[in-house]
Amino acid sequence: MNKNKVYIETYGCQMNLADTEIVLGILGDKGYDLTKSVNDADVVLINTCSIREKAEQRIYGRLGYFKNMKNDKPELIVGILGCMAERLRKDLMEKKSIVDLVVGPDEYRRLPELIDAAYNGDKGIGVKLSRTETYDDIIPHREDGLQAWLSVMRGCDKFCTFCVVPFTRGRERSRAINSVVDEIKQLSQRGFKEVTLLGQNVNSYLDNDKDFADLLSACAEVDRSFRIRFTTSHPQDLSDKLLYTIAGNQNICNYIHLPVQSGSDRILKLMNRTYTIDHYIKLIEKARRIIPGVSFSTDIISGFPTETYEDHVKTLEVMREVKYDGAYMFKYSPREGTKAYRMKDDITEETKSKRLHEIIDLQQQISYQINQTLIGKDEIVLVEGSSRKSDKFFAGRTDTNKVVIFPVNDDIKVGSYVTLKINKATHATLFGDFVEQENVTNNNLALIA
Ligand code: SAH
Ligand code: SF4
Ligand code: F3S
Repeated sequence: MNKNKVYIETYGCQMNLADTEIVLGILGDKGYDLTKSVNDADVVLINTCSIREKAEQRIYGRLGYFKNMKNDKPELIVGILGCMAERLRKDLMEKKSIVDLVVGPDEYRRLPELIDAAYNGDKGIGVKLSRTETYDDIIPHREDGLQAWLSVMRGCDKFCTFCVVPFTRGRERSRAINSVVDEIKQLSQRGFKEVTLLGQNVNSYLDNDKDFADLLSACAEVDRSFRIRFTTSHPQDLSDKLLYTIAGNQNICNYIHLPVQSGSDRILKLMNRTYTIDHYIKLIEKARRIIPGVSFSTDIISGFPTETYEDHVKTLEVMREVKYDGAYMFKYSPREGTKAYRMKDDITEETKSKRLHEIIDLQQQISYQINQTLIGKDEIVLVEGSSRKSDKFFAGRTDTNKVVIFPVNDDIKVGSYVTLKINKATHATLFGDFVEQENVTNNNLALIA
């Protein structure tokens, strides 16, 4: 086969970033080359996200652009992958006929075959969801670097009433523990320093009798100089065993993304979130007792149907009480097919925006205050490379997921751990001075051999 060049754009969550690497792994095996320039491409793929209306609109904009390209180059294959492929398959293939390929998250193995079909003038459609597909034998195409994504489970069974994910990604299923551990060994040998284990509900991971805590400790043992992160945790499945596992392993990062969504029990019930604020706060308090210094981030939705001003105030209250280190904050966006879609989207755009701004302002104040308390303290960071703004500065990340900027120094190597003294802080960034190299060694080399 002639070598074909594939160009891919990725939208949405980290699971999509990880899926893109799987897609490139599958296509690489069949002789496809990756190109970074869309003008060189024979095949253009867009790995899409359906989580909110805006995400989809943005992608439709990009599709329009690729459609124009196709006018000048009719042999170009344009394909939609990911969550929009699953959600809008009919629309995309039939009504708009913009694209040649529509392939959902569980059918990427068929991509080479479907691309061939598209070359032959057929539409390449693969949108079945699977109860078993985990791609655990596929070697993802990863660029060299320090940080890797690794999906350990797929799908979601939680059915929060606002969310499309259970419809676009299907039922929960987990990868075998051994295949995850093997992949981490390979990452460590390749010079990676950190992995983020991914799943929409990563802590409901289950491989026979092995739960997520078992998986985390197995991953942490591979290489003690290698950081383990994970996301996203659901408050329902954050077990004591998991908290003790994080506390007991120095290389499992002390950072938990634990979306609360709303501070009102009434809204949480309408969202089908399965916990109350009382339960949630007690969970946070327990985690802080078991893992001293643990940091938390959250997701918040403003303007869910029927949300009153009092409900909104309760969200601000829970933010003040927990004091999140960071938050991802969104306006409610009705998604067809979900349970909430059948409720009236009765909060005006203006009110949603006003509430969202109050939430964002409050979070910035909280993050700022937390970061101010770190001034004068020593923090260990993994040196990730030049800072985004200047190559005279390095950027590193603390185990609690905070970015620290510090002056470049010839003795400091990217990928090493250093101690910094924090001298300045904004709500988003810390600044520090070099104190010393950290000797974080891999005391488990035998396990890798
Ligand atoms: N599985 C993760 C992440 C899901 S998507 C979890 O359970 O937390 C990431 C975030 O997008 C969600 O936590 C939620 O805050 C937000 N989100 C999901 N659907 C949404 C919708 N219809 N409108 C606005 N925000 C939404
Ligand atoms: Fe969506 Fe809820 Fe599943 Fe998260 S837990 S992916 S918000 S349904
Ligand atoms: Fe978006 Fe699908 Fe992820 S809807 S957030 S890409 S699971």
